[in-house]
Amino acid sequence: MKFSSAIGSALAAMASVLALDAQAADDPLAPTGRWSAYTAGRAATPPMGWSSWNAFATDIDEDKILGAARALVRDGLAAKGYRYVNIDDGWALQRRVSDGALIIRPGRFPIAQGAGGDATFRPLTDQLHGMGLKAGIYSDLGRNTCSQAYSPDDTDLPKGSVREREIGLYGHIDQDIALFFANWGFDFIKVDGCGLRAYGADAAKVRSGQYRALPPILNMDFVNRSDIPAVQALFGQINAALDRENPDGDYLLSLCIWGAADVRSWGKNVGNISRTSDDINPTWGRMLTNFDTAAKRAFYAHAGSWNDPDMLFIGKGDFDADHLTEARSHMTMWAMINAPLMIGMDLRQAPQSLLDVFGNAQVIALDQDAAGHQSVVAFDSDDVQIFVKTLGTGEKAVAIFNRGASALNVDLTAAQMKLRGDADVSLIDLWSGNRRSFRNTTKLKIEGHQTLLFKAEGKRVLMDGLYLSEQPGNVNPAVDGVVEPTPDPTIHRSATGWQGTRGSGEGPIYAGWGGVQADRAPYGEVLAIKGARFETGVGVLANSRLEVRNQGYRRFKAVVGVNDSARDTKRAATFAVYGDGKLLASSRAMKWGDPGQDLSADVTGIKIIELITRAAGSAADPLPTTWADAALLKR
Ligand code: GLA
Repeated sequence: MKFSSAIGSALAAMASVLALDAQAADDPLAPTGRWSAYTAGRAATPPMGWSSWNAFATDIDEDKILGAARALVRDGLAAKGYRYVNIDDGWALQRRVSDGALIIRPGRFPIAQGAGGDATFRPLTDQLHGMGLKAGIYSDLGRNTCSQAYSPDDTDLPKGSVREREIGLYGHIDQDIALFFANWGFDFIKVDGCGLRAYGADAAKVRSGQYRALPPILNMDFVNRSDIPAVQALFGQINAALDRENPDGDYLLSLCIWGAADVRSWGKNVGNISRTSDDINPTWGRMLTNFDTAAKRAFYAHAGSWNDPDMLFIGKGDFDADHLTEARSHMTMWAMINAPLMIGMDLRQAPQSLLDVFGNAQVIALDQDAAGHQSVVAFDSDDVQIFVKTLGTGEKAVAIFNRGASALNVDLTAAQMKLRGDADVSLIDLWSGNRRSFRNTTKLKIEGHQTLLFKAEGKRVLMDGLYLSEQPGNVNPAVDGVVEPTPDPTIHRSATGWQGTRGSGEGPIYAGWGGVQADRAPYGEVLAIKGARFETGVGVLANSRLEVRNQGYRRFKAVVGVNDSARDTKRAATFAVYGDGKLLASSRAMKWGDPGQDLSADVTGIKIIELITRAAGSAADPLPTTWADAALLKR
């Protein structure tokens, strides 16, 4: 009796999941009762480690790789979490045409050749594992890599016939993933995208016969010239192969398509970390560009699926030992936005002052905080920004980031941290260790390019819960309502290292403008419903579905309405709250100028809450809507 009723309820549960899936297939806004961002692999916190690219480009060998590994251990950085040692582009000699096997550059990696028979990286990964480290490898989605497309000479490039030089994953995904993970023992793969971008029939290197043509399906200039489903399908094949070849689930997939193909919106669905921009270089301006591509995308980063604004360039140029202010700012802001912390300098020669920057345990702890909430913008300008991050302990980290070169006086308010102004707020400076406390507002002096970083404790405005904008790591925009992925104009435009000031400069190239915002409406406007302004909330376009992981809260509350920034004053939106796929609460149809409506739902025992906004009529002019004061409460 009991047995059959257990089977009965299991079947019923299965049937309801299948029913939800069937609904979701033809309506992306239908509730699914699931968290759809990537959680496979091992990236509960952002990966930390070292990569060969920024220091050595393709000029790599085993001394450099193992030298970095030894330095990580010797200098105590490994113990602080820097575990991945990643071989970037430059390791491959060729692909054997007879069986598709990949051959390692013999002169550079004698350790691999010594293994007898086919060369294998296994002795290298064994050594790294023996040191308590993890090993990373590099490949490309296409047939050829980025260095093959862009290196000025072929010193470090693969050798042999056209076919032999095709060392990328294209047509070899299953074979190569099995080789890298099951056979060679790697734990991490960075998958670059130049093979899908730079080898069109009219590319000079293709016309000259050096490489086979592959019609480009990635385009950096125009989103609509990328074939997004085709790119996603390739990552889907990689996901399946990784799953198959790593029965213990210990792998990490790093997407490297630089913000192209609107990946800033969907990378979270197919990989553990996803590059939001083109390459960083060691200049202040380029660091700003890379930072900006991820900084306002807090809802697109979660445990298991992080934004990646590229590796740290601390140790060179504007971030070398003579520029510790800049180096600390770079490190601080990467930690605030939960970026992977990948050291890119030759650690064999790192001065203590820079090791101290990488090794600041308090700063690392922000990046690695188990709650996994990327910081959100509390104050914004082109000169100075204030970012606030909610930690698992309920404390706040606050960074005041002086983007400009001149010293400034700034005000920090308790309200910016969602702390009460009538109670003491205590601050610990995470770089100097100094402590101070204030009520309401404090004045601070900040040097050019400096970032003040504090851990703050005070009385929370919302005593018995957490606003959704304080826990972006638990909110996944499964559908963010953006129908035309247009470029985001708020990203600092810098001169790129490789192009200099030749040509006319980059356009605003990174798509995703209009995405979900914390404490702001889409397009960076203020949150307001019928003239009532809200400091807190989630701003999202209509025809969107947000998945919210509920960590034991009992009530969901929000004030909903069409945001005052809407240009379309006629179209109505309705707001609905679902719990594990079942409707819990919904609003009336609301238009611009209607007063906000309170929505409240009992979410006790619910795992996934979905916030769904639907607008009738054409989606040509997306309708900004507001989940003001959206919060999960304990009671
Ligand atoms: C691309 C990537 C870089 C690096 C190089 C290697 O440019 O964005 O991070 O991997 O390729 O060629």
